[in-house]
Amino acid sequence: VIQGIFVTGTDTNVGKTVVSAALMVRYRAEAPLKYWKPVQTGIAHDDDSREVARLARVGEIHERGVRLQHPVSPHLAARLEGTRISVRSLLDQLDGDVDAAGDTRWIVEGAGGVLVPINERETMADLIGALDVPVLIAARSTLGTINHTLMTIEVLRRRMLRVAGVVMVGEPNDENRLAIEKYGAAEVIAEMPRFDPLTPDALEGWARTSFDPGGVLFVGCLR
Ligand SMILES: Nc1ncnc2c1ncn2[C@@H]1O[C@H](COP(=O)(O)OP(=O)(O)OP(=O)(O)O)[C@@H](O)[C@H]1O
Ligand SMILES: [Mg+2]
Repeated sequence: VIQGIFVTGTDTNVGKTVVSAALMVRYRAEAPLKYWKPVQTGIAHDDDSREVARLARVGEIHERGVRLQHPVSPHLAARLEGTRISVRSLLDQLDGDVDAAGDTRWIVEGAGGVLVPINERETMADLIGALDVPVLIAARSTLGTINHTLMTIEVLRRRMLRVAGVVMVGEPNDENRLAIEKYGAAEVIAEMPRFDPLTPDALEGWARTSFDPGGVLFVGCLR
């Protein structure tokens, strides 16, 4: 099996891809990293692998994965295209590369959140379980995030999956951060501001100074 971090979110569109790019920028000097998006729906308009390559200015992307046209949940996009995804078929996309890569640390980005279905029976949580890597949760910083983040943490822990921490995206909100740490018994690793514009330079400047300066995630998940 692999070593690395699985980046999930409390929802779609919360910032998983930007957080993944920040992880690449932050830790690539400390470990050989590779980004992987196992399932991408709406590929014509949404290509997270390409966005990570742009933002992190890296070529360390594992290009293989299930790519579907419809911008909907994986279970539905697959059905609409007359195919079926499974945890097994997703793991197959890694075959060969894991051995060849040796000590590569994988930054794996999920689709949507933890209970997003990939077929009639399996969800993203089953993929996380099969990969057996700690999970970093991208969450909004704004109202509503306490509930969504605590639900995500609870689902992960109920399935014996490891919570590496939370990255809150958007205008920092101290009370929301404290509530997540207290009620979720999880660490908020970083508060990522909205970059305007979102450029590789802006992301790198922030990641180098403010993203896990103590290296907690590195020690816990990537070493
Ligand atoms: N820190 C940020 N600064 C500026 N824009 C951001 C930031 N984080 C996210 N965005 C923007 O918000 C949108 C959603 O972010 P992102 O694509 O990372 O979400 P996601 O959780 O990966 O979504 P998906 O479920 O489609 O994979 C994108 O347009 C992205 O550019
Ligand atoms: Mg994404």
